[in-house]
Amino acid sequence: MKILVTGGAGYIGSHTCLDLLQNGHETVVVDNLCNASRESLKRVEELSGKSIRFYEADLRDAAALDQIFAKERPEAVIHFAGLKSVPESVAKPLLYYDNNINGTLQLFQCMQKYGVYRFVFSSSATVYGAPKTVPIQEDFPLSVTNPYGRTKLMIEDMLRDLAVADPKFDIVLLRYFNPIGADISGRIGEDPNGIPNNLVPYITQVIVGKREYVRVYGNDYPTPDGTGVRDYIHVTDLAQGHTKAIEYMQQHHGLHVFNLGTGIGYSVLDVIHAFEQVIGREIPYRTMERRPGDIATCYADPSLAEKEMGWKARFGIAEMCADAYRWQSMNPDGYGA
Ligand code: NAD
Ligand code: WQD
Repeated sequence: MKILVTGGAGYIGSHTCLDLLQNGHETVVVDNLCNASRESLKRVEELSGKSIRFYEADLRDAAALDQIFAKERPEAVIHFAGLKSVPESVAKPLLYYDNNINGTLQLFQCMQKYGVYRFVFSSSATVYGAPKTVPIQEDFPLSVTNPYGRTKLMIEDMLRDLAVADPKFDIVLLRYFNPIGADISGRIGEDPNGIPNNLVPYITQVIVGKREYVRVYGNDYPTPDGTGVRDYIHVTDLAQGHTKAIEYMQQHHGLHVFNLGTGIGYSVLDVIHAFEQVIGREIPYRTMERRPGDIATCYADPSLAEKEMGWKARFGIAEMCADAYRWQSMNPDGYGA
């Protein structure tokens, strides 16, 4: 199938393009490169032996998007493009509403105009807010605590409205838990700008000597060792979830929601220790205050995705850490090297 991938040059998008190409699909990428580099897609082409048609364009540029749809006539859209930093969204909410909401609106309008009705959306476990119990199932109540999360929930709501208004739409909402790791080749991976917000790129930067020690945000949570527990999922497994969603939509119509996680929760200290196993030495860390807005525990019940789409995460924490480390050590300065 010919699939338009928005944000395809980014971290999850580049891994998904690789999986789609390896499964015989054709990919057209639209990305404004605000948080990515052209190099990621060159490497996906090199790894897959296939070519990607790339358009450097902003989704909010209605004329540019119209031209891309008119020329390419995609059969489905996978929508990754968006800004994703929680603290930045708190500081600059209008930037997030403009980029994430207006960009998505333009995309929906083009899809309707050109009769493209298959859509996969990058949602997030953030839409569950602070869950009362774990594991989290797809029908748990939804709530958000920051503008980034609100853009995800708003887009989910827009999609639910669209599915009611126009039954021609087939929509899969994928709620990712905590994507980490990198393709096993070490050629593509996560390349954050500046100081990483997220735990794993921070740890890998400490390992290669770019930062002094890991900051562990809080050790007094109601968890086995007091540090926050999350459901880390290998980005290669996550990427495969998108290919499965595209295949699923060919048989199943309407709107469907799936958690993509492993179902296993690891604490911050578990993750540090898993990296220590990979590198064979201790990783320096210091315990700090809790980070505002963090919750104690979050992990998925991923069984619906397995039952419905036949998707299940294959990689464990050791492989996630080994692959994240390989990417960081082969590319200490990310794609900028
Ligand atoms: P990323 O920043 O690496 O990728 C997003 C891509 O979108 C980037 O390449 C960026 O240049 C592009 N982009 C942003 N705004 C754009 C616009 N207006 N027009 C065109 N391109 C634009 O992020 P990622 O980690 O790969 O995340 C992909 C998606 O998954 C995002 O929507 C994110 O919110 C969602 N998500 C990510 C995580 C995570 O932890 N990484 C978790 C849950 C959900
Ligand atoms: C994981 C754990 C931290 C950094 C975020 C977004 C979420 C989603 C994924 C997009 C927590 C602790 C972290 C550090 C630490 N993104 N930590 N030291 O917060 O679960 O989720 O990314 O949708 O919306 O909120 O991920 O990797 O930042 O944190 O101790 O330097 O690591 O407190 O317990 P989080 P994370």
